[in-house]
Amino acid sequence: MNNQVEQAVQAFRTLLEEQIARSDAMTRSRTISDFHSAKRIVVGVCLGDGIGPIIMREAQRVIEYMLADDIKSGRIVIKKIEGLTLENREACKKAIPDDVLAEIKSCDVLIKGPTTTPKGGTLESANVALRRELDLYANVRPVSVPKEGIDWTFFRENTEGEYVLGSRGIEIDGKLAVDFKVTTDAGTKRIARAAFEYARKSGKTNVSIVTKANIMKKTDGKFSLLCHEVAKEYPEMFVDDYYIDIMTANLLNENVRSKYQVFILPNLYGDIITDEAAQIQGGVGTAGSANIGDRYAMFEAIHGSALRMVEEGLSEYANPSSILKAAAMLMRHIGYGEKADALETALSVCNDTERRLVVTGDKTGVTCGEFVDYLMEKLN
Ligand code: IPM
Ligand code: MG
Repeated sequence: MNNQVEQAVQAFRTLLEEQIARSDAMTRSRTISDFHSAKRIVVGVCLGDGIGPIIMREAQRVIEYMLADDIKSGRIVIKKIEGLTLENREACKKAIPDDVLAEIKSCDVLIKGPTTTPKGGTLESANVALRRELDLYANVRPVSVPKEGIDWTFFRENTEGEYVLGSRGIEIDGKLAVDFKVTTDAGTKRIARAAFEYARKSGKTNVSIVTKANIMKKTDGKFSLLCHEVAKEYPEMFVDDYYIDIMTANLLNENVRSKYQVFILPNLYGDIITDEAAQIQGGVGTAGSANIGDRYAMFEAIHGSALRMVEEGLSEYANPSSILKAAAMLMRHIGYGEKADALETALSVCNDTERRLVVTGDKTGVTCGEFVDYLMEKLN
């Protein structure tokens, strides 16, 4: 056992050195994409696993329809990226095979179907790897329920916290296991700034910082402190602090929940609470997710690859709403705000108000393709 402790201490030294290097790299120069003046924007399309290829077929159809003029002029290039499949990832034993990563990096933005992460084993989640490789530090997840006055935008830190060393914990056989959570100053300030900038640009005035700083004193303590420090640059904002446990309750409390607007959270809490929020909106099949960095951005549904639907022969009945919300966020990100608004309005008419055709996820509802035909009528 002494030997294992010795090895663990060595491993910890390496981890610390690597994380200090990562933090230093973050504070060096930043390349920030400017899509408004770009002559050419390459949009990568990754199908993913399970229901991914079905919902992505429809997302691509909608994007190609809405951006048709600029695709024709060559300003927008749609690039299909093959090979981000579980089979290929397992064969290469890599979360993202090298050639696929190179293709992805040749794009500016990406829209991606859900990818399967096997439980256990050593294959890392393709999502987590992409977020790290492309440095997509802001996971932005909007949730709205207009009739209840809910309009929330979650800014989840997306590259560190509990995830950054997720597969590199330490185990002493038959005794105990330790995982690590890492919070850096640079990583916290950039997510806080992204959230406050968004709040300012979109006329929001209420920002909630959500941690468990009473227990995770070092990491969440730092996170909360630095968010408040950044907040000083935004004096027009009403900023409040909550612990994650009470915030999960507050989201269910109809007397208070509509006052929240923008949330800033460390990675794992952000992961969990955004599923809860999506459920309040109507289910995880209804929410879109943006993963934003300075150079790249990736847009996806917040749900998984739903292999069970594939096994039951129900893939064609998958709900494309979540990936279409992601498509709208992508269009807004690259400067097509009006198109994004139009797509969001059409989705809301089809899903909330008119509901002439409904996707239920099984044969009691319409197929993904039929729903998108209906949606496209509303785009005209
Ligand atoms: C999400 C997902 C991912 C995460 C999984 C697929 C790794 O739950 O995007 O919320 O935990 O971040
Ligand atoms: Mg999640």
